[in-house]
Amino acid sequence: MCGIVGITSKNEKIVPGLIAGLKALEYRGYDSAGIAYLKNHAIKIIKSKGRVNDLQKIVNMEEETTTGIAHTRWATHGKATSKNAHPHSFGSIAIVHNGIIENYAEIREELEKDGYHFKTETDTEVACALLSFYYDKWKNIENAIQSFSKKARGSYAIGLLCKDIPNTIFAIKKESPLIIGVGDNENLIASDVRAVLKYTSNYYILSDNEYAIITPSEVKIYNQQGKMVSKEIKKYSGNKNNETKNKYEHYMLKEIMEQPSIIDTTIHEYFEDGISSLLAKMPDLTKYKKIDIVACGTAYHAGLVAKYLFEEKLNLETNVDIASEYRYKRLFLDKNSLVIFISQSGETADTLAALKKVKNLKVDTLGIINVKESSIARLVDTVIYTEAGDEVAVASTKAYTSQVLLLSLLVFSEAIRQGKLESDEQEKIIADFKKIPKQLTKLLASNVYQQIAKTLYQQKDIFYLGRRLDYYLMLEGSLKLKEISYIHSECYAAGELKHGTISLIANNTPVVASFTNEELNEKTISNIEEVIARGAEVTVITNDLDYKGGNGIKNIIYIPKTSDFVIPFLVVVPLQMIAYEVAKLKKCDIDKPRNLAKSVTVE
Ligand code: G6P
Repeated sequence: MCGIVGITSKNEKIVPGLIAGLKALEYRGYDSAGIAYLKNHAIKIIKSKGRVNDLQKIVNMEEETTTGIAHTRWATHGKATSKNAHPHSFGSIAIVHNGIIENYAEIREELEKDGYHFKTETDTEVACALLSFYYDKWKNIENAIQSFSKKARGSYAIGLLCKDIPNTIFAIKKESPLIIGVGDNENLIASDVRAVLKYTSNYYILSDNEYAIITPSEVKIYNQQGKMVSKEIKKYSGNKNNETKNKYEHYMLKEIMEQPSIIDTTIHEYFEDGISSLLAKMPDLTKYKKIDIVACGTAYHAGLVAKYLFEEKLNLETNVDIASEYRYKRLFLDKNSLVIFISQSGETADTLAALKKVKNLKVDTLGIINVKESSIARLVDTVIYTEAGDEVAVASTKAYTSQVLLLSLLVFSEAIRQGKLESDEQEKIIADFKKIPKQLTKLLASNVYQQIAKTLYQQKDIFYLGRRLDYYLMLEGSLKLKEISYIHSECYAAGELKHGTISLIANNTPVVASFTNEELNEKTISNIEEVIARGAEVTVITNDLDYKGGNGIKNIIYIPKTSDFVIPFLVVVPLQMIAYEVAKLKKCDIDKPRNLAKSVTVE
C-alpha cells in the first residue's frame, strides 16, 4: 500500500536517498511512483506509472536539492496513471498521502464553488487543495494543518512541502502509519522505518492527530491543538541486512526456506527450560470463557487454525472474524472474553480499527504481531511477537507459520496449565514440536512441487478440499495460489462441495486435497472419489501412509504422522511450494503480485 518517504538534509543531494527509500518500501505493493523537491523557491514534481525503476529513469539523480518527498501509490480513488500518482500540488503546497479522505467529494464540491479546478479523480489532490486553501487564507502553514485536520475525515499520513518554506518537510498523521527518522545530517519521514535505515536507526513514531515540522537539524512534534509534544526516541532493532535475496531467485522462496530455522529458534526459545519456560513466557488464559480472533488475509487463516486448537484442546468457544466485518458487527463480549488480533505488519487498518473498538469496550486484548512497535503491537494489552524477521514478499509464508507456531504453543501451554494433558502426552507433543524443522527441511528438499506445478500452471480453475483442520489449511494453500499465480482457485470444506460447487468439476479439473485426521480421513477420501467420478485429477497431501490412491489420483505428498499442534506446518509448506512453482512457470511477478499490497493501511 502507499509508501511515503521524505528527506531534508544539511548538504546531501537527496534524490538518490528518496529513490532508495522508495525501493525499501516496494514490498508494500504499489502501481505508480513520484517525487517532489524544493529548488530555488519552487517545487519540482516528477511522476511515473509502474515501478520505482521507471521513475528513476526520468529523474535527475544529481539534482541540486536537499529537501524532498516521494511516494509509491496503490490506487484507491482514480486509476493507476502517472497523472493520478503522488505528489499532488496546489498553489504553494505539494503533498504525498497514504490513507483515504472519506469526505473528499464534499470538500471537492465546496472548493470547486470557490473556483478550484481539479485535474485528477484522487482524494489526495482534494486534500492538497484544502491545505492550499487554508494556507492562502491564514498565510500560516501550522494553522492550515490544524484546520485541515478538523475538516478532513478518514485516514491520512501526509508528507508536505511548501515552496515558501525552504529546507522543511511537514508531516501530518491520523491512522495511517508515519515515522520520523532522526539522523546526524538529515531528518526523514517514512511509512516504515525500513525506508530510513540507510541514514539512521533512530526514529520517532507519530501518533494519531499529531503533526511535525522537520528541518535538517530539528524535529518538532505538535498535537492537533498546536501544543508541542515530547517523544521517546526509538531504535530499530531488526536485522538491517534481512532484505537481500541471498542465493534465492525470489524473496518468497527465501522466506519459505527460512521457515525451518525460524521454527527451530522459536521452539528453542520457548522450551529453553522445558515446560516451565513455556508456561512462564505464555500468558495465562485460564479465566477466559470465550475467545474472539480477528485478522485479515493469511493472518485470518492462522486464526482459523487457532480456533481449531482452542476448541479441540481446551474446549473453549472461539470465533474467528475477518477484521473488516468484525469492526462493524455487534460484539458479544464480557470480562471473561479475550480478543486476539493477529497481524504480520501490525498496521492493517481494519484490524487496528477492530482493536480500537474492543479497547473501548474494555475487553482484554492479545496481539500476535511480527513488526515490533507497530500500531497494533502498541495498543494491545499483551503482545506476543512472532520472530519471523522482515517479510518482503507480498504473499505471506514465514509470518503465517510463525503465527501458527505461537498460537499452537499458546494453546499447548494452556492445555498443560489447565491439566488437560498427561505428562507423557506433553512429552510426546514437545518431541513433535522439536521435530518440525527437520521434517520441513526434508519436505522442502523434494522436487515434487515442480512436477505438480507442471500439471497445474496452465489451468484456469483449481479446487482445494479438506475437512476441519485440513480445510483451514487448504484455505491458505488456495489463497497462496490465487495471490501469486492469478489462477482462480476455491477452497471448500470437502463435505460442502456437493451442495453446489461440484457442478464446476469436469474432465481434468485439478483438485488439491488433504486429509490428516484419522477420524475423518475416510469421509474426505469419499469426497475425493466423488470429484474423481466427475473427471477431476487430484493431488493429495496425507499422513496416511497406507493410502495408495488409485484412478484419478495424480500425485501424493506423504507427510509424517504427528500431533495436531504440528500438522499445519507439514501441510501448508508444501502448499506454499506448489503455489510458488506454479507462479514461477507462469512467469508471474512473484514477490510483487499485481494489485496486492503487503501492508493494507486503508479500509
Ligand atoms: C495483505 C497482505 C496479506 C496479509 C494481509 C493481512 O492483504 O497481502 O499477505 O495476510 O494483508 O496483513 P497483516 O499485516 O495484518 O497480517
